Amino acid sequence: MEPRTIKDGVYYVGFIDWDRRLFDSLIPTPHGTSYNSYLIKGSEKTALIDASDFGKEEYLLNVLEKVEIESIDYIISNHAEQDHSGAIPKILEKYPNAKIVTNSKCKELIESFLLIPEEKFIVVKDDEEISLGDKTIQFMIAPWVHWPDTMFSYLKEDKILFPCDFLGSHHATSELFLTDEKEIYLSAKRYYAEIMMLFRTMIKKHLERIDKLDIDIIAPSHGPLYKDPSFIIEAYKDWSGDSVKNQVIIPYVSMHGSTKAMAEYLSESLIDKGIEVKLFNLEVADAGELLMSLVDAATIVVGGSTLLVGPHPLAYYATYLVNAVRPKTKFVSIIGSYGWGGKAVETLKGLISNIKVELIEPVYIKGYPKENDFKSLDELAEKIYKKHKEIGI
Ligand code: FEO
Repeated sequence: MEPRTIKDGVYYVGFIDWDRRLFDSLIPTPHGTSYNSYLIKGSEKTALIDASDFGKEEYLLNVLEKVEIESIDYIISNHAEQDHSGAIPKILEKYPNAKIVTNSKCKELIESFLLIPEEKFIVVKDDEEISLGDKTIQFMIAPWVHWPDTMFSYLKEDKILFPCDFLGSHHATSELFLTDEKEIYLSAKRYYAEIMMLFRTMIKKHLERIDKLDIDIIAPSHGPLYKDPSFIIEAYKDWSGDSVKNQVIIPYVSMHGSTKAMAEYLSESLIDKGIEVKLFNLEVADAGELLMSLVDAATIVVGGSTLLVGPHPLAYYATYLVNAVRPKTKFVSIIGSYGWGGKAVETLKGLISNIKVELIEPVYIKGYPKENDFKSLDELAEKIYKKHKEIGI
């Protein structure tokens, strides 16, 4: 592909990965992704921002050749994860005078991942700048979105922010700039849920800092670029903010139908009270869809069959995930059924130590639900309804 001009002297030289369906051997990417690299040609120096994934080296080098540059002076590494740094060794082979410009944490990680010697690095601090002649790049150290090494680069004269993973989306598209807002909103929300949600507190701080910049274009490392920065910034403010919606998420697994009957009954009881419900059968649920639903929901009810004496592994996995991504959920409960061993509730309760939630009394029953059990589920729905009313939703 030809380099694509973003502004005078600023080019998109990234790779669109239409086929990628999993990130980190865990995160589903149903719409593929892109590894966005950018070349900035100043009057005196040339800089590359981020350097694509392993296996994409030849592609990147071919696109760079088409920009007609004599050399690359700086490889700006905003983040060490290999989807941004994998091609650095090959770029250094072709442009041996290039220096990697990054912060000290990112340098340490790149050294250990890619075995690059110390003398190839220029370490920058927060707010430091480098000049390319008529263009200036300012660095903003922005840890924990989602690694400790992340930094943003801001091209001052052109008012372009390169926030690395932050504000991106795993979405392969031929459009350089966002066109389909509805589609990209969902992809960006999924990406936020899977990768960023855990770092809500840090995200709020970084958003405040970005608010002070004069930005024409946001150019993230994955997905399309934004000509209207407010589209993604306002979405992030909403997702990372403290307000929750009148929603209950019920991820459940059912071996012989008892927990399924309970989950479905509870969902109907909640719907009758005007509460929005999302039910996820964990046998077939997409983990990304489940995580995305957790961004706004006030309550999660985990439904778990008992396998031997503990929770079914899928219920264990879903609860572990919830605890890992730390949604802003306010209330949690557990429903389910057992045959002859009933330690599942204690195990599941023990898995949510990271999230500050109020636990609503679980409904865990022996065998198939009976009249009294359905009554208990109605009572659980009523308790959830009252809790939601107490917090004004
Ligand atoms: Fe796009 Fe954290 O890697």
